[in-house]
Amino acid sequence: MVNVIWHGHACFSIEGSINVLIDPFIGKNPVAKIKPESLNPDIILITHGHFDHTGDAIAISKNSKAPVLASFELSEILKNEVETMDINPGGTIDFKGIKITAVNAVHSSSYNGLYAGASMGYIIDMDGIKIYHAGDTAYFKDMELIGNISKPDTSLLPIGGHYTMDIDGSIKALKMLKSKTVIPMHYNTFPAIGANPEEFKNKVEKAGFKPLIPEVEEVINL
Ligand code: NI
Ligand code: MN
Repeated sequence: MVNVIWHGHACFSIEGSINVLIDPFIGKNPVAKIKPESLNPDIILITHGHFDHTGDAIAISKNSKAPVLASFELSEILKNEVETMDINPGGTIDFKGIKITAVNAVHSSSYNGLYAGASMGYIIDMDGIKIYHAGDTAYFKDMELIGNISKPDTSLLPIGGHYTMDIDGSIKALKMLKSKTVIPMHYNTFPAIGANPEEFKNKVEKAGFKPLIPEVEEVINL
């Protein structure tokens, strides 16, 4: 069994045979309910360099000794401070028996004003379950390839608009990804990315998929 815990915004723990932490924006996240130092991941995945995704990655990595997986360029920036692993879209790593694949996202990426390489999503293949974290992205036609080739069981999709796709965009994405279940993210953290999860739920159900809409820190069993 794999547990998914939403820490708010785009930050999730995926806990099975290992503990994967993605985009740990917690300390400055207005909707977060935990302290970053309470997390003890085996690996930290960063989708891109923006502050609301890199967040507390350095502090958590130093505490937990978990390496940070990021684009080649972002890992070059972070490697003086923490142990990093680099990847780019199309690449797959095997980490303690878990397969992690980086895929495209349509977005930008910088870190403290420095170019931070590609903006990415990740497919985490753990304990027989495939989870797609889309990162910050617009919907794009190649999500159909991600659906056909990676066949994610669950997709974590941004719905807040403004910097990413909105609810209607996420439904278009879901129809290409064809994952049975979907969890919304990247909404209602700031006023610019307001979205109604009830509207998302209704539209996902109408499209024939299963929405899972966690509260912050609720544990979802997949
Ligand atoms: Ni971003
Ligand atoms: Mn973002």
